[in-house]
Amino acid sequence: MSDAYSIRPAVQADGSFLGDMVVEAANWRSGGARARHEILTSVEHRRYLAGWMRPADAGFIAVDSGGQPIGAAWYRMLAQDDPGFGFAGTAVPELIIGVQPIWRAHGVGRTLLRRLLVHAGEQGHARISLSVERDNFARSLYRSEGFLVTDSGPARDTMVHRVS
Ligand SMILES: CC(C)(COP(=O)(O)OP(=O)(O)OC[C@H]1O[C@@H](n2cnc3c(N)ncnc32)[C@H](O)[C@@H]1OP(=O)(O)O)[C@@H](O)C(=O)NCCC(=O)NCCS
Repeated sequence: MSDAYSIRPAVQADGSFLGDMVVEAANWRSGGARARHEILTSVEHRRYLAGWMRPADAGFIAVDSGGQPIGAAWYRMLAQDDPGFGFAGTAVPELIIGVQPIWRAHGVGRTLLRRLLVHAGEQGHARISLSVERDNFARSLYRSEGFLVTDSGPARDTMVHRVS
């Protein structure tokens, strides 16, 4: 971590910022091609945020020196009949991560990821999953932090991290 940012636990009031980060993740390739409203109301993305913050939800927010959010990583448990892109089982939370464009490649994403994985262990989770498109560089970030590919679709991989 640097002096320029710090990490704090996510709270219910962070829901809107988490929405920004879902939009960043959905638009990673196109740089904002899909409108926020369209993404956040879509069946495949709204499940990552709906009703935030539920009892089993957990996350961390990176904030700049003025306290403004610059990135977030969080997980939530999704139901088998409403699975996310990276569903790996009913007891396996799925992770979502995003960093504001001007803050990328400064170590914020890796710091958030590590903090969330420690927290997952403290919460007693055995595994954490995620989904990543195969040509997103984030795949190598996840691999370098111990995520392994457990399932592959035509364009995306499910990756799982064994916490304990
Ligand atoms: C993916 C993301 C969360 C990573 O956060 P970040 O703060 O940019 O990542 P970090 O600075 O911690 O970098 C992690 C590694 O990725 C590498 N990296 C960062 N940006 C990169 C880029 N544009 N291309 C290739 N590698 C890159 C870094 O070199 C670093 O590796 P290193 O530690 O060996 O140098 C962030 O870039 C992001 O929000 N991207 C858009 C949304 C997205 O794709 N989300 C994930 C969907 S699965």
